[in-house]
Amino acid sequence: MLQLQQLEKTYKNAVEPSLRGLSLSFSSTCIAGLLGPNGAGKTTTISILCGLVKADGGSARLLGLDVLQDAEQIKKRIGVVPQSIALYPTLTAVENLQYIGKLYGLSSRLLNTRINQYLQLFGLEKSAHKAIRHYSGGMKRRANIIASLLHEPELLILDEPTAGVDVQSRNMILQFLQDYHRAGHGIVYTSHLLEEAQQLCDEIAIIDHGQLVVQGRPKELMQNLQASSLEQVFLQLTGSSLRD
Ligand SMILES: Nc1ncnc2c1ncn2[C@@H]1O[C@H](COP(=O)(O)OP(=O)(O)OP(=O)(O)O)[C@@H](O)[C@H]1O
Ligand SMILES: [Mg+2]
Repeated sequence: MLQLQQLEKTYKNAVEPSLRGLSLSFSSTCIAGLLGPNGAGKTTTISILCGLVKADGGSARLLGLDVLQDAEQIKKRIGVVPQSIALYPTLTAVENLQYIGKLYGLSSRLLNTRINQYLQLFGLEKSAHKAIRHYSGGMKRRANIIASLLHEPELLILDEPTAGVDVQSRNMILQFLQDYHRAGHGIVYTSHLLEEAQQLCDEIAIIDHGQLVVQGRPKELMQNLQASSLEQVFLQLTGSSLRD
């Protein structure tokens, strides 16, 4: 599903590298968590995977395809939910979703069916014709996810999909991710919430300072380190100093 080998990235004018030989892999169609504290390199990694940022070295593969050489094929088969809301604030949810769906080449009929289906699933049907700027934080996050789902990608990559939302929105989003996975799709999601990932993920990779700290199945990692939570695993391996 995802394979990174020796990924390197230093942003222009940056003092330090953001990725320092990051290598990790997730097996097919699992729910995978790319975890780490603020500044660990999660968004940089996602940006490389979706072609927004070019790595200085190493390789990245999604669904067995190279992110540079097979970019066009990959785009059709994955959906990426960015950390920041990527919707036009003055347009309504339906207007945003129609615009995005058309970029994916969906027919009007299929697009309208999916827009209605997902607005309902994410509890936004009553606000379908409200401008995004009038949405609450949780509603924006939910709409942001729908925008990457309209073409029903076989792999969904989400950058902090539960950041800054209330417990109801959070539960809804996590339930959706489990259902989407059960329907046969792969999920890669980033978070700094280790407890959330412990409950959700089949496989996780913890990164820090642009490097892999540890990867594996949450239960096995906890057993190996005799820790009662992923948070303990992380603190045991990295210490507790502030990251930024
Ligand atoms: N465009 C940029 N230019 C320069 N430095 C950047 C840029 N984007 C990120 N960085 C730096 O790269 C490092 C990794 O940042 P990144 O956003 O990938 O981390 P993250 O794990 O997603 O953090 P967060 O949990 O806060 O979202 C940080 O030190 C950050 O300051
Ligand atoms: Mg980030």
